[in-house]
Amino acid sequence: MRESEADQQGLEIAPGCLWFREALDRPAQESLIADIRAVIAAAPLFTPRMPRTGKPFSVRMTNCGPLGWVSDETGYRYQPFHPDTRAPWPAMPAALRALWAAHAGDAPPPEACLVNLYAPDARMSLHQDRDEDDLTAPVLSVSLGDTAVFRIGGPARSDPTRSVRLSSGDVLRLGGASRLAFHGVDRVIAGSSTLIDGGGRINLTLRRVTVSA
Ligand code: SIN
Ligand code: FE2
Repeated sequence: MRESEADQQGLEIAPGCLWFREALDRPAQESLIADIRAVIAAAPLFTPRMPRTGKPFSVRMTNCGPLGWVSDETGYRYQPFHPDTRAPWPAMPAALRALWAAHAGDAPPPEACLVNLYAPDARMSLHQDRDEDDLTAPVLSVSLGDTAVFRIGGPARSDPTRSVRLSSGDVLRLGGASRLAFHGVDRVIAGSSTLIDGGGRINLTLRRVTVSA
């Protein structure tokens, strides 16, 4: 298979984990960044904190869509409003709904898009995405801006991991046997993209949360 064909169908980097490289071309990335800036203007970035300890995350976050993922001393959860402003999350941009339709198979529509903003020294330690009631739908992750050194293992924390470099415009689908795979970001490579003014990386994760009737 030629590389371009593999990219369209997704390259399977772990069972059920498909990597669609450059799923978004530069104009599509620029348009999506403009959409995300509008989301951030309506729902300001907040600094999530670890359950119990209250230790701040190194990434800042916001959400769009009917539900948003938040974390503070009382735990991780989805809720329909911003933790500081209490306003409903802004609507999910049409481009993200289209991306889900193209890459999430026959899963019901996404309900949450978590926006993660990585400053140059930000990282995300290995974790599973398991706060959703529907664990059959995949998680779609969209990378924008600076390249991330992304690590993925298996459903057990002790499973071996591999690392891939996610570049701006890449889409990663965590589904099937990788839906509960441990994953994280070891580091972001500063200066590797010109997409975001001032540098940095934005990651979007689209998720189905509730089980559809
Ligand atoms: C996440 O797991 O929530 C983010 C992954 C990434 O930033 O690529
Ligand atoms: Fe995650």
